[in-house]
Amino acid sequence: MGMQVLWRTAMRKAVVLGTAGAMAVGGMVAMAGTAEAAGTLGAAAAQQGRYFGTAVANNRLAETDYVNVLNTEFNSVTPENEMKWDALEPSRGSFNFTNADKIVNHAKARNMQVRGHTLVWHSQLPSWVGSLGADELRKAMTTHITEVMTHWKGQIAAWDVVNEAFQDGTSGARRNSPFQDKLGAGYIEEAFRIARSVDPAAKLCYNDYNTDGINAKSTAVYNMVKDFKARGVPIDCVGFQGHFNSNSPVTADFQQNLERFAALGVDIQITELDIEGSGSEQAANYEKVVKGCLAVSRCTGITVWGVTDKYSWRSSGTPLLFDGNYQKKPAYTAVLDVLNGGSTTPPPTSPPPTTPPPGGSGSCTATFRTDSSWSGGYNGTVTVKAGSSAVTRWTVPLTMASGTSITALWNGVHTTSGSTVTVKNQSWNGSLAAGASTTFSFTVNGGNAAPAVGACSTS
Ligand code: G3I
Repeated sequence: MGMQVLWRTAMRKAVVLGTAGAMAVGGMVAMAGTAEAAGTLGAAAAQQGRYFGTAVANNRLAETDYVNVLNTEFNSVTPENEMKWDALEPSRGSFNFTNADKIVNHAKARNMQVRGHTLVWHSQLPSWVGSLGADELRKAMTTHITEVMTHWKGQIAAWDVVNEAFQDGTSGARRNSPFQDKLGAGYIEEAFRIARSVDPAAKLCYNDYNTDGINAKSTAVYNMVKDFKARGVPIDCVGFQGHFNSNSPVTADFQQNLERFAALGVDIQITELDIEGSGSEQAANYEKVVKGCLAVSRCTGITVWGVTDKYSWRSSGTPLLFDGNYQKKPAYTAVLDVLNGGSTTPPPTSPPPTTPPPGGSGSCTATFRTDSSWSGGYNGTVTVKAGSSAVTRWTVPLTMASGTSITALWNGVHTTSGSTVTVKNQSWNGSLAAGASTTFSFTVNGGNAAPAVGACSTS
């Protein structure tokens, strides 16, 4: 706890003394060297070492109230539509950067960072792209990424290189698109490699929706990112869009899902957050999401998908932080409060140590629960609890049911021998005080039968 407070104080001092994010943000009430609550979303997020952004529509920049809220509250922007393929290259080889430039210039003049959205996406794709054969399509994709990233080279903090490449539902398959259908699934890594070669300073993200909790779609993305990291495909971050409503609620495993991705060695960004609803219920959901991000050290920032309810793509669901009259909603206050009092988990400064601490004592127990299941698979969690003495490491053996196997496991290190999977702690979750607990989770394919959980040991 002492270390956490020290870190938070140090972060706030650093920000107050002039990091770029804090310099950008109006309304910060902290005095030099103190750790007062900040008065705006951007300033409060900066004190947590994060950014707080919004989607921006170029044609709203003429509206005074819109611009006032934008400039006061946010320190990152994402052009809502102006950097999509149909906006930038409506006909082959003919680029129009005008509208997007206006947003980028607005942001740069106020030291706001810019997220680029998006280079390769099946939607808002001009019809000429879909009519190309494979060879020409590959050339067109290469040219598009190259021209667009070169235009803003050094000015975009993170790019959504590929957007929404996976199908909804439980198949875990790639979505059909001209890219997928003509170039094959390899188009995704091709896009990332081209992007890295054009602007090595930009963070390269994969961005998708309905991947905010642990489910078959997010696990398919997880497996892709894991494979990319293993093979050296350049990927730096995963964007979780965060479009929530009653059909797609904020689930209890939101934070856990972010954690498993972070454990792969990528940053996390909440890229298009909006939550339909109103009043305290909406506020509570926003609180869950922001807390979830702050609890994960690699979650580097949050973008809401618009400034005001009246211009939201889901306007009737009033999903944003400011109402149609630019009044702050309860959700705004909840978010600001969380950012001001929020988690003390520091953002990454160096990679975590890879070897567990030596020694081990005490005893532990392990219990299994099913988190969610579908035909032919499930997600499960094992809770590891220390006995009456502290432990510094733990091992849990699982015997998998016939025909089933683990396809992804997070918050633990596992080895497989036949049907036996041995799970040991990660470097950061081996030490448990007496009676304290931690969890590891996994995805199983091949059936729904639960594994037999063997005795937890601390040797
Ligand atoms: O600007 C034209 C206007 O001139 C015309 O009269 C009008 C007629 O339909 O269309 C206007 O363009 C619309 C544009 O939004 C600007 O408002 C498009 O029709 C409309 O399709 C477009 O919708 C956007 C949508 O992406 C397209 O897929 C939304 O604004 C935008 O919020 C939404 O954002 C996506 C993210 O990029 C990816 N993730 C999901 C998210 C929500 O769908």
